[in-house]
Amino acid sequence: MSFKNRDIISITDFSRKDLIELFKRTDLMLDYRKNRLNLLEGKILASAFFEPSTRTRLSFETAMKRLGGDVISFSGSEAISIAKGENLADTIRMLDSYANIIVIRHKYEGAAKLAAEIAECPVINGGDGKHHHPTQAMLDLYTIWKLFGKIDGLNYAIVGDLKYARTAASLVLGLIKFKPQKIYLISPPQLKMKPEIIDTIEKYGFEYEELNDFGDIISTIDVMYVTRIQKERFPDPMEYEKVKGSYNINLKLISKAKETLRILHPLPKIDEIDLAIDQTKFAAYFTQAAFGVPLRMALLSLIFGVKFP
Ligand code: NCD
Repeated sequence: MSFKNRDIISITDFSRKDLIELFKRTDLMLDYRKNRLNLLEGKILASAFFEPSTRTRLSFETAMKRLGGDVISFSGSEAISIAKGENLADTIRMLDSYANIIVIRHKYEGAAKLAAEIAECPVINGGDGKHHHPTQAMLDLYTIWKLFGKIDGLNYAIVGDLKYARTAASLVLGLIKFKPQKIYLISPPQLKMKPEIIDTIEKYGFEYEELNDFGDIISTIDVMYVTRIQKERFPDPMEYEKVKGSYNINLKLISKAKETLRILHPLPKIDEIDLAIDQTKFAAYFTQAAFGVPLRMALLSLIFGVKFP
């Protein structure tokens, strides 16, 4: 199925073939990440971020501008009429009448889907609560594809707050479009992966294991995907206090890993990765973040159905 005019709500809506098409288009955009490429002149992207964001918002906005388009945006709900009591549906209707595409991030699960039902223009989910973050998963998969030349046949460790981190859930849903050798899900017991994601892994028959720590598997891992503990999503701050700082990726742990291990993180990182790791060849998270602009340029150009080259 082509990307043209499609909403991007969940990574599950895209096939392996779609994702490879996106990755190849992203490769073409690498040369333009610091240059202008006038593919979307006259188009406006509305960037509606009701929750904080650095990378997702700025990379979408940069991508649209590099493609010659324009951006209207707000961040947080204080600055807009939501603070006066306007409901989400009315805000979306208005954005739909101004812009050609909407990117939305919201704390409520299902907010992007609701927006897509209301808006006639395509809607991209920039993160809905603890639910989905499809463009981050696309970016994560592209980074792996670039670093390893493949996604199939690798051992993955997804680490951290697997209960609340939407990036971890979306990555698993993306990985099952490929053929991972094994997926280790490593988290404190209170922050285990959501049951519906485990059900999906089982339904597709992938090998996986849930662990509380690395034990002796560190030497088998190819890709380590680390997430921060999502403090803002804990209903009870006391529960957060119990798990905060409960895992830390450091040089001692990494000394037992393969030379080819690469560590990804959607960022922001807090204290879950020792700063000393940043300087090592294992750290791939800044490269991953840098791919955010070309990947989103590729995605926007495909949704608008422009041919390139
Ligand atoms: C993530 C998010 O917002 O889910 N950030 C991002 O988009 N790169 C991860 C996080 O906030 O922990």
